[in-house]
Amino acid sequence: MTEAATRLTIRRPDDWHVHLRDGAVLAGVVPFTARQFGRAIVMPNLSPPMTDCAGVAAYRQRIMAALPEGSDFTPLMTLYLTDSTDPDEVARGFADGTFVAAKLYPAHATTGSAHGVTDIANIRAVLERMAAIGMPLLVHGEVTDAHVDIFDREAVFIERTLAPLVRDLPELKVVFEHVTTREAVQFVESCGSNVAATITPQHLQINRNAMLVGGIRPHMYCLPVAKREVHRLALRQAACSGSARFFLGTDSAPHAQSLKEAACGCAGIFNAPFALESYVQVFDEEGALDKFEGFASLNGPAFYGLPVNPGTVTLERGECRVPETIDANGTAIVPFHAGEVLGWRLLA
Ligand code: DOR
Ligand code: ZN
Repeated sequence: MTEAATRLTIRRPDDWHVHLRDGAVLAGVVPFTARQFGRAIVMPNLSPPMTDCAGVAAYRQRIMAALPEGSDFTPLMTLYLTDSTDPDEVARGFADGTFVAAKLYPAHATTGSAHGVTDIANIRAVLERMAAIGMPLLVHGEVTDAHVDIFDREAVFIERTLAPLVRDLPELKVVFEHVTTREAVQFVESCGSNVAATITPQHLQINRNAMLVGGIRPHMYCLPVAKREVHRLALRQAACSGSARFFLGTDSAPHAQSLKEAACGCAGIFNAPFALESYVQVFDEEGALDKFEGFASLNGPAFYGLPVNPGTVTLERGECRVPETIDANGTAIVPFHAGEVLGWRLLA
């Protein structure tokens, strides 16, 4: 790979963290993910949340029905953990392939987490079972304690919850989702190979200034919230390091424009339409285009114990114009990088 490379061809990548929603908007957003990725880990924080095998299986059917004609995209489903999740239900759905992982939302940490776990002690039996069967736990890593500053909630979660969990259940496979801090990077690096992390394009691209300087910019708001520049730099280094413990997870989280541009705007950045173009720009800027395939296409499958996708995708240097809004089957949504011109485009 020379610096002047104008094309980059990599194994077809996957998105290890996406929100596809449900109902009419599902058909409006899923084509963007299916165009870019072979598979995606689909988050279960719907209303009501996907808390049992039957619900997850039915949701998977709705996703399949919403795919564009001829798409070979594969959704990888997840189960939403609550205080009363039954370990047998978890083991059954994992064994029969209904879902590949379970998601831990601390109750009230983010969008759609009201039914989440109030104390990790309440799901101890579930976690022990997951460790025994090799099923990954996907973690939204923020404390919800009102006394903790929102910019510190991830670092405090490591101390109070994640480090003790990994110590107590050293066999458990854990994905620390959408990491946003230097502390999270250092934590993952300090663990064994059963602990990994996803990183979003926005946390590689923006710091908290993007959200707050010159006016409040609701389309730069997601959870965990973007942090200081020092953290963004640590994330860029981790993503571009070649470490197999970090991989692509967009956390693409579409919300209607009207619900973002409001007195109390929803958390979530819709980055699915130009996710690869956004990520590759970061690797290019870091002089690490040779590390992009590992991050986007190889590290995730290795962690989940899945084969790498067949086929490739090609990105090419050149103008890529991001529209101001996208019509997602009748819902206007403002995408990440709206109105910008990116320096790479994905070839059809
Ligand atoms: O910003 C976010 N939006 N963070 C999450 O954890 C959830 C997501 C959503 O579902 O909108
Ligand atoms: Zn998410």
